[in-house]
Amino acid sequence: MQKTVNFDSNQLLTNSYHCWLQYKRIDNPLTYSSIASTISFTAKTILIDSAIAELKYALESMLNIVPTVQPYPTNEFSIVLGTFESVNLKGYGISPELFDDVNEEGYLLKTTADKKKVLLIGKTDKGTLYATFHFLRILQREESIESLEIVEGPRNQLRMMNQWDNMDGSIERGYSGDSIFFHGNDFSEDLTRVRDYARLLSSVGVNAISINNVNVWDVETNLITKAFLPKVKKVADILRSYAITTYLSINYASPMELGNLSTADPLNEKVEKWWAEKVEEIYNYIPDFGGFVVKADSEGRPGPFTYGRGHVEGANVLARALQPFAGKVIWRCFVYNCLQDWRDRKTDRARAAYDNFKPLDGQFLENVILQIKNGPMDFQVREPISPLLGALKETNQVLEFQIAQEYTGQQKDVCYLIPQWKEILNFDTHSEGEGSTVKSIVDGSLYDNKYSGIAAVSNIGNDVNWTGNTLAQANLYGFGRLIWNPELSTEEITDEWIQLTFGDDLQVVEQIKYILLHSWKTYENYTAPLGIGWMVNPDHHYGPNVDGYEYSKWGTYHFADRDGIGVNRTVETGTGYTGQYFGPNAKVYNSVEECPDELLLFFHHVPYSHKLHSGETVIQHIYNTHFQGVEEVGKFIEKWNGLEGKIESWIFANVKERLRMQLDNAMEWRDRINTYFYRKSGIPDELGRTIY
Ligand code: GCU
Repeated sequence: MQKTVNFDSNQLLTNSYHCWLQYKRIDNPLTYSSIASTISFTAKTILIDSAIAELKYALESMLNIVPTVQPYPTNEFSIVLGTFESVNLKGYGISPELFDDVNEEGYLLKTTADKKKVLLIGKTDKGTLYATFHFLRILQREESIESLEIVEGPRNQLRMMNQWDNMDGSIERGYSGDSIFFHGNDFSEDLTRVRDYARLLSSVGVNAISINNVNVWDVETNLITKAFLPKVKKVADILRSYAITTYLSINYASPMELGNLSTADPLNEKVEKWWAEKVEEIYNYIPDFGGFVVKADSEGRPGPFTYGRGHVEGANVLARALQPFAGKVIWRCFVYNCLQDWRDRKTDRARAAYDNFKPLDGQFLENVILQIKNGPMDFQVREPISPLLGALKETNQVLEFQIAQEYTGQQKDVCYLIPQWKEILNFDTHSEGEGSTVKSIVDGSLYDNKYSGIAAVSNIGNDVNWTGNTLAQANLYGFGRLIWNPELSTEEITDEWIQLTFGDDLQVVEQIKYILLHSWKTYENYTAPLGIGWMVNPDHHYGPNVDGYEYSKWGTYHFADRDGIGVNRTVETGTGYTGQYFGPNAKVYNSVEECPDELLLFFHHVPYSHKLHSGETVIQHIYNTHFQGVEEVGKFIEKWNGLEGKIESWIFANVKERLRMQLDNAMEWRDRINTYFYRKSGIPDELGRTIY
């Protein structure tokens, strides 16, 4: 990457900054050097310029050669960059039909028959850029380029990153330093890291980003005014050169706060006009602006409810303003009563997204997209799938993941989330009978949606390694790769990331893989059991606090007493939540016998002596998993320590330190949880281990 980055003096120059774009010197450069001696291009656009710059930089770094860059392919050895339109396909014996099944972001990566050229041909220049990054992955992993013929395109249309960055530089739920976008209530002056972030995102196919927090406070409300739009434009220019579209989160009360109107009522004519003019102003600066991300009537943020209007009216007024410019409204479904009375056993937060949005299906304008969190609560280590996924049949929707590890160890603890996301994407909602998977809903195929895709809350900040714990880079990488192609296996993605980041030493690959692949289950083991969630310290959400949310207003309870634990969400005697699922899922979740162990306490209140499918009782499961979780972290430490000398020392020390914190955390969780439930239930551990 650019060598101009200014690190703090105590932030030693480390490979971890470069993440998976290390471009390390290749052992046997001869295999590639003739082809890499020349780069020729058949079209010249901003994206192809970026692709060429990346290639040049990478080839220099990996092969120690400076390739010649020239506008026309000759007979010589070369890498050819071009587009479907601009490359002489016939001349290379390529049938145009090869491109039939990929969209404008797809590409063909091909070695010519005479083996003199590698062609990187995008359906459009977006595809050319993605092909280039794909090709560089091949070189970095030192794979053969003798006979490449790869046709690929993304499965999901919108592949989006949500920054939760505030303009004072802080990041809501950020665990790796401050914002790279903002500082001191303004934009950062040095945008070098924004460019490098764009390269990282683009290299794994991310094509959209909202740059500010969904909670839009005072200063950020002004992002859509002329005070900041020139700077938004500057950022958008950088992002655009990597095929990333810029969005902003907006404050629903903007017409009042910025426009001096007395209302933000979406049905008020003046409000409608204000938004229309505002949007036009934004597009004067940024002609390809993506649109707005909106958190309205959620956790105290303003919204249409104040005026007796609903989400449809609320979103559609923005949609009408954005429509002439092909802009979109991304309206979040994270709407629930956050002022609940814990004594009230009827209101169930898990029901909220479905109850709010299901009745509105089909009423949103064509450029409105609903953004739905993967679970009904809030990114817990284990939750069922949101029943809203599958329930909306005539509404554009995107799924929302959280890469930031808010409830999953805050990038101190290792928690590799790809296995969780794969499980979610493969889940069968049965909304149209068997095979109605989440991935077929969010890629738009099941309901033939105009817009669809996947978004995620980012986990990066200005720490030198971007993600606090270097191993957390794997979640960012894996997110991009998985949503590009949900059929990739966890193993494939994990191998790729490790090899690109750490090289292909067998021991390094195996040991890191072990840690990553066991980390989600391990985190689940030592934290809240059996899908119950929420036993965390309030506010910051790190570390155990069994009753931290038990008597709160947030709707997040476990209902543990001396006899049992869990939330009864059945149709007959509980909150009725299980009824929001389709046929087989509703039946399985509603039945205490059939409910999968890992979600039992999410759906049912059971005695501690209740037997799980595993054969253990609930209480013994709690004890066992909590002891196991800590032992497993011990194993991670052993595995990591075994890599000393094989991993760059800064990274080695960084992860070692995080694992030490993780062990402390895991022990604290184990002892608090085990002790709490031993005291509540009075049932001792069958194995007589230490409980306090
Ligand atoms: C969680 C998180 C908040 C965030 C919210 C959201 O509740 O703790 O910080 O604002 O999700 O997704 O809007």
